Amino acid sequence: MKKVLFDNEEYSEALDMLNKLMMDAELMTDVDHKVLLYNILQYFDYIHREPLNRIIKLLNKNEMLKSELLQDETVLKLCSLYDIPVDESPLDKGEVLAFIPEDQIKILTPIKHKTWLEMGHFSEFEDRKLYAKNFEKVNFLISRLGSDVYAFSNQCDGSILPMDKGTLEDHYLICPWHGCKYDLKTGESLNGVDKKLDIFQTEIDENGLLKIEIEYC
Ligand code: FES
Repeated sequence: MKKVLFDNEEYSEALDMLNKLMMDAELMTDVDHKVLLYNILQYFDYIHREPLNRIIKLLNKNEMLKSELLQDETVLKLCSLYDIPVDESPLDKGEVLAFIPEDQIKILTPIKHKTWLEMGHFSEFEDRKLYAKNFEKVNFLISRLGSDVYAFSNQCDGSILPMDKGTLEDHYLICPWHGCKYDLKTGESLNGVDKKLDIFQTEIDENGLLKIEIEYC
């Protein structure tokens, strides 16, 4: 491997290639592999984001070194990919976000048909856990909150990124990528942005069987 890995031009070519690969990934039809890929990316994100935040925190104590480094377009690009504001304090743990900037994320094909799926007995679902499922290329999540069960798309609105590593707060789901908060009763985002999760109807029959009405193409 070269000592200096890339000059700026090669770095820019590598970014173009990454963009192309991300676009190819959007076209993958195998939902399981797509989720696996984005889970891997998410963990790459985590292991890079923390040390990067620490580096920027230290740099904030050395203005001269900081301004020299921030003249380097590759350093600036890295900070922007991790949503790190270079002129302010780096984000605190928990504030943050994703390796793939939100504006690069595309929308999947709209959903058209409906069918009821039998998911097993209601008691098989532990309280306040997220269960990732799929049917006909529709990735969805099931969560039981007390005696209620919610089913919704495993895909943040306007993106292809999965939500199954998100966190539940009361009846809200927080997206693990950029922190959008969704109300599982309505699907509405609470962030004042025009985002909404697809919510699927659920039903528990007299024998305790959980059924979900899924919409798919
Ligand atoms: S992917 Fe950005 S908030 Fe969910």
